[in-house]
Amino acid sequence: MKIGVPKEVKNNEFRVGLTPESVAKLVNFNHEVFIQVNAGAEIGFLDSDYKKVGANIVSSAEELYAQSELIVKVKEPVPEEFKYLRNDQTVFAYLHLAGDPVNGLNLTKTGVTGIALETVTADDGSMPLLSPMSEIAGQLSFIVGSYFLLKPNRGMGTLIGSINDLEPRTITIIGAGVAGTEAIKKAIDNRAKIKIIDLSSEKLNLLKDRFGNKNIDYIISSESSIEDAIKESDMVIGAVYVIGKQAPKVIKRSMLKLMKAGTVMVDISIDQGGCFESSKPTTHDNPTYNEDGIIHYCVTNMPGAVPLTATESLNKATLPYILELANKGIETALKENPHLANGLNIQNGEIIHESVREALINTE
Ligand SMILES: NC(=O)c1ccc[n+]([C@@H]2O[C@H](COP(=O)([O-])OP(=O)(O)OC[C@H]3O[C@@H](n4cnc5c(N)ncnc54)[C@H](O)[C@@H]3O)[C@@H](O)[C@H]2O)c1
Repeated sequence: MKIGVPKEVKNNEFRVGLTPESVAKLVNFNHEVFIQVNAGAEIGFLDSDYKKVGANIVSSAEELYAQSELIVKVKEPVPEEFKYLRNDQTVFAYLHLAGDPVNGLNLTKTGVTGIALETVTADDGSMPLLSPMSEIAGQLSFIVGSYFLLKPNRGMGTLIGSINDLEPRTITIIGAGVAGTEAIKKAIDNRAKIKIIDLSSEKLNLLKDRFGNKNIDYIISSESSIEDAIKESDMVIGAVYVIGKQAPKVIKRSMLKLMKAGTVMVDISIDQGGCFESSKPTTHDNPTYNEDGIIHYCVTNMPGAVPLTATESLNKATLPYILELANKGIETALKENPHLANGLNIQNGEIIHESVREALINTE
């Protein structure tokens, strides 16, 4: 199969769809791999590294897309890339169609087949291709939250850490999944008081078994329980997810007034439209804004801040699926692997995935 890896075009996005190591494995199976010039250069994957393992370096996005049947990238295609997409091509990437419905519907119209990493499933009900990036975003959420709490960064001027015998500072984390769990681990390491909120008592109980009760409250999600928690918090992390859908708005704009001035809210779920009513997408260049005295951090590609780690981690997870698609052919691979088929979001101008279709149609 002819496999193409374009250079990512989003703000500060230096991840790349395939590492040289992954390319070597695909070339071993006699697939032809095309890499856009300098696609991995910013993270030390040079064109010469790709050439050494048998890739062809092409000089432009136009040429790359023209040559390729399967496009392996990281972030969803954006309008400047739509002109290259064709009905006989498949894109394997995060698509987040419900996060930006206008972009999602326009991408659908290109006729390209789109397999979304974030809706591929596994036997245990997990999201094996979303979770590597959620792990990273969860850890980063605590790091960026702490950074923007600093006074020079316009936060309230608190340190999440163990200081003499001062009372620990409070962090609320909404969503006890992969990203939420990583945020909890960082918060525990920094001796914060943690309020973890989820709709699922089962998830909360699993976390209770794992982390115990010391300095952690496990709370069932409701408007009033969220209100109570955020009033006391220095940092609020939103990490909810409902497969393929727009993120539920767990914090209403009116609730900001209940919070302490300079609180930092990190909306990890922004790639699915955001889970705070007051969230709007931001970039690594300009990651925060202040609304009602509350610092909002809403970067849609948080793992883009650690592109080397993120590319290596993503490739570990995606390569078996890419090999399956390439070795069997797209149609057969989707037919034989129902979990991979759950990734199929768009085909022939139609939205195939049921939850994604509902989410997009409701916003039309
Ligand atoms: N911004 C970024 O760069 C970035 C990077 C990676 C992942 N993400 C996003 O992070 C989000 C979380 O991903 P994940 O892998 O941790 O998901 P997950 O499925 O592991 O966990 C999501 C949790 O949200 C809970 N939930 C759903 N609705 C809720 C509600 N109304 N109230 C409370 N809890 C609720 C679920 O029960 C579940 O425990 C996703 O939207 C994902 O796309 C963003």
